[in-house]
Amino acid sequence: MRERDYILSKQNDSDGPETIYIQNKNSIITFDNAVQIKTSHSFRKPSQIYKVGDKIIKRYKDGEDDYVRFQKEVFDILKKSNLPAFMKLRDVYTEDVQLFVDDDFKEMITAYSYDYIETINKKMIDLPMEYTLSSMCELKKLVEFLNNNNVLIGDSSAANCLVTEDNLVVIDPDYFEINDKCEEENLKEINHYISDLWCEEYGLNSMDDIRLISKQFYDKNIDLYLYKMNMRLTEETPREFITKTLQKNRRI
Ligand SMILES: Nc1ncnc2c1ncn2[C@@H]1O[C@H](COP(=O)(O)OP(=O)(O)OP(=O)(O)O)[C@@H](O)[C@H]1O
Ligand SMILES: [Mg+2]
Repeated sequence: MRERDYILSKQNDSDGPETIYIQNKNSIITFDNAVQIKTSHSFRKPSQIYKVGDKIIKRYKDGEDDYVRFQKEVFDILKKSNLPAFMKLRDVYTEDVQLFVDDDFKEMITAYSYDYIETINKKMIDLPMEYTLSSMCELKKLVEFLNNNNVLIGDSSAANCLVTEDNLVVIDPDYFEINDKCEEENLKEINHYISDLWCEEYGLNSMDDIRLISKQFYDKNIDLYLYKMNMRLTEETPREFITKTLQKNRRI
């Protein structure tokens, strides 16, 4: 079972809805009927993820103030994105935290919410190649938005890119950061979402396998893909190249 499926099925055997509390400035906000879908023990940003109605709330664990967290200024930019390839951010909750390094206070995110994303239980390889290509078109719009706003993608991986009926949707921007030299890097990152999803579904699990495919994606055709995305989909699409590469590396 893939991580994503596990998390979603875990939702059904959870202990049931609970009330959660979120720090916002100097008050506490309460949400009833929150169903926990995940606890992350990640060292840098331990968090809990809840489904509350049609929203997801990601809450950082208490007492982790010195850890790196999703930056408020990055949240504010991303909230304006309004693109199919990116999660729809809603509310943000913050507190002023005194930083250990320089004693200054900084507004830090304690939690944020976004629209629940309906995923489909299909693998990339089972979807038509047009799905990959149209997803890339949408991802390209995301890259343009991020580049215009100097936001660099961080933590691109299959787990942070959900497969929906219409296209891939990027989630988990916790490691996105302001960086004025992100243009080339962001292109690689969106290709990484795609190549990682393809690798995952081909059961490629050694780093060498993944590198092999990434290399093909990065070195050979990155510009070509993006160029073709501006064009109508024809026989010239990289379908053959992608299929061949993946078949060659398939483990049965
Ligand atoms: N809106 C959503 N709709 C459906 N599933 C979601 C949604 N948001 C999160 N998930 C599920 O929760 C998982 C974890 O979310 P996220 O990537 O934000 O947490 P995380 O901090 O990366 O946790 P970890 O580092 O432990 O993976 C996702 O991979 C996805 O399967
Ligand atoms: Mg994640």
